Amino acid sequence: MTGSGAKVTGLKCMKCGREYSPGEVTYTCPSCGLDGILDVLYDYHEVSRELSREGLAASNEDSHWRYLPLIPVGSRESAPSLRVGWTPLYSGTGLLGLPNLFIKDDSLNPTASLKDRATSVGVARAVEEGASAIAAASTGNAGSSLAGFAAAARVPCFIFVPADAPRPKIAQLLVYGATVFAVDGSYDDAFDLAAKAIERYGWYNRSCAVNPYLVEGKKTVAFEICEQLGFRAPDRVFVPVGDGCIMSGVYKGFAEFERLGFIERVPELVGVQAEGCDPVKVAFDTEREMVPCEACTVADSIAAGHPRNWRKATRGVRKSGGSMMTVTDDEILAAIAELGRAAGVFAEPAGATAFAGLTKAVREGKVGRDETVVVLMTGSGLKDTESAMRAAGEPVPVGRDLSDVEAAVKKMAAGSREN
Ligand SMILES: Cc1ncc(COP(=O)(O)O)c(C=O)c1O
Ligand SMILES: [Zn+2]
Repeated sequence: MTGSGAKVTGLKCMKCGREYSPGEVTYTCPSCGLDGILDVLYDYHEVSRELSREGLAASNEDSHWRYLPLIPVGSRESAPSLRVGWTPLYSGTGLLGLPNLFIKDDSLNPTASLKDRATSVGVARAVEEGASAIAAASTGNAGSSLAGFAAAARVPCFIFVPADAPRPKIAQLLVYGATVFAVDGSYDDAFDLAAKAIERYGWYNRSCAVNPYLVEGKKTVAFEICEQLGFRAPDRVFVPVGDGCIMSGVYKGFAEFERLGFIERVPELVGVQAEGCDPVKVAFDTEREMVPCEACTVADSIAAGHPRNWRKATRGVRKSGGSMMTVTDDEILAAIAELGRAAGVFAEPAGATAFAGLTKAVREGKVGRDETVVVLMTGSGLKDTESAMRAAGEPVPVGRDLSDVEAAVKKMAAGSREN
């Protein structure tokens, strides 16, 4: 099957609405600068000749490349060999008393986060463009994702992370052989520095908020949800929001499937931010320009005080008839524990944030029992074991004798009787 590079008809600026032909601009709108993030436009008539519900149902491609006609790469062969997407949609967890609750576990991507969807597209395009190296700023996951895919494609890569990013994420970057710059500052500082270095050295930019093609990878999670539900849209989808790129992609995915007639409507999208970092929610609620904030949350992956893709994200939420909400760090940690214990799903803090949002919405009576609800789980708990320990508590200390275990079991039984 050929790719859809040819079906991309143009790029449209989110801010001023100007349209460009695909070869005319590299990243953002020349008149609006970094604020002018572009939307990728397709010839949907052409796409519908290559993509159909029946064709998808018969496809044995167990990765997100099953949607190739809607992914802006020239050829499947340009993509690194790592398998990406087609992750499980779990049901029947009994969680929150919702019989139609589904958990989309995107931690089962090759580098253990949803970012792999975007990276696979970015790296494929970089390969097609003959880039000498690829670079990105990252709170950790986009970086480790890029490092993994760049390794598989044998392209050098440079990653800028805040020096205090969780150690497992930094370890992952180094194992994949990336050059890692640990920036003495926040994610926002790392982003600004990466932008300057990319400009200086001409590296290919993997940032989702700058490179318009990356969100095209993220949207495949929405395609999969529709397909896994039998080409039905859920009623609501809960999505964690940092920079807003995942939310932008999720909206675009559902909107494209609606446009192609594969589903009847776009579900209500609920964006969930941490209380200590909620500039996208504030921009959405006030209908004003986003005002950056000082980020302070346990969910490092969504600690984006200056979210870059807020405009696209809030537009998507609004068009879907959805809303934005916040949860506290305690609610996020509780969600990690609940997902682990009740569903066997191990999430990092940002990965559990959407579930924390749903938990709060159910508590406040905002979700009907019969609704079909999907929660996006975006990153593995193995990425941040310190937070995992905060969420899960401590092991039971015992000596080497069976009597130690017996004493501990007795104590636990007494404890549970008291409760
Ligand atoms: C695990 C995880 N969840 C959620 C997000 C938020 O995504 P976005 O910044 O696109 O809003 C990120 C981003 O780094 C992430 O790594
Ligand atoms: Zn513009």
